[in-house]
Amino acid sequence: MIVNRKILTLDEFTIQQMRQFPSATGELSSLLRDIGLAAKRVNVEVNKAGLVDILGDAGSVNVQGEDVKKLDIYANNQFMGVLQHGISCAGIGSEELDDFVVFDDEISNNSKYVVQFDPLDGSGNIDVNISIGTIFSVYRRISKPGVPCTKEDFLQPGNRQVAAGYIIYGSSTMYVYATKRGVNGFTLDPAIGEFCLSHPDIKCPPSGKVYSVNHGNFFQYNEHIREYINVCQKKDKTNGGPYTQRYIGSMVADVHRNLMKGGIFMYPGTTDKPGGKLRLLYECNPFAFIVEMAGGRATDGKQRIMDIQPTELHQRTPFFVGSVDMMDELDTYLEKIK
Ligand code: AHG
Ligand code: MN
Ligand code: MN
Repeated sequence: MIVNRKILTLDEFTIQQMRQFPSATGELSSLLRDIGLAAKRVNVEVNKAGLVDILGDAGSVNVQGEDVKKLDIYANNQFMGVLQHGISCAGIGSEELDDFVVFDDEISNNSKYVVQFDPLDGSGNIDVNISIGTIFSVYRRISKPGVPCTKEDFLQPGNRQVAAGYIIYGSSTMYVYATKRGVNGFTLDPAIGEFCLSHPDIKCPPSGKVYSVNHGNFFQYNEHIREYINVCQKKDKTNGGPYTQRYIGSMVADVHRNLMKGGIFMYPGTTDKPGGKLRLLYECNPFAFIVEMAGGRATDGKQRIMDIQPTELHQRTPFFVGSVDMMDELDTYLEKIK
């Protein structure tokens, strides 16, 4: 019988990938599928966020701020739960938890990977129905399997990631992940509750028309970054423009759009926050990995994001990421910063 199957589900795809490596243990595939399960659960709750607001107005006690916070914690618990109960993850780091969590049970202690994640990115946008996301990063542990994982397993530079990805809860829900073999995107088909391969082998266009930055901070940026932003605003047909400014305030949504269509996203340091706002381990490193695997680049303004040696779980960094030609042009301004 000929089965006409054009679209692969996430499970089918990861298994197919694994079958190309007879020596693979399947742990990474299993981990990526576990994350997909948590994402589906979070997606259901994210879609109800407006409903929670209506109930709140009808007399329930919670103010919206508490609901938003609950969803962050809910997402954290879902991702932590699937990883803890799966067979691949020895411990996690999360934006919502003060410290790393070592699972420390027999199966987890024998697992190969540690995962760091931002369970809900752009969560300030939940109550206004704007796309939000989840970001994650996977490392092979350095410590020997058989014992609990250690802090060193988590504090590895981004260039040691084995996989990274994000889920965007948007007009449709998408799961995008990268390994050294490439970047693939899956769209949730609500009819069957499965992520289906919709964007195989994603490549970031070398150039685009979009620049994304918080203009409200303009006068707090270094003068050469302001100079570059001015250049973006002055582009015309003669030099690759005109450019469009797009900034949603959910990095997942902003970088996803730029990854698909070409563009540059910037969160520089400011006079108030010289180290920037975004977190190295679970926001910048995963996106740096994904965008580089798709052909783009990511820096902190001085060096490649993925070459930074982390020193703590929640450390922040300035972040510039996007299409390779646009990043090269930005570099000519960043190089002027002493
Ligand atoms: P989170 O919701 O996980 O705290 O992250 C929000 C981040 C990021 O998604 C976004 O790009 C940035 O904060 C927006 O910050 P500003 O409002 O300062 O521009
Ligand atoms: Mn975030
Ligand atoms: Mn978050």
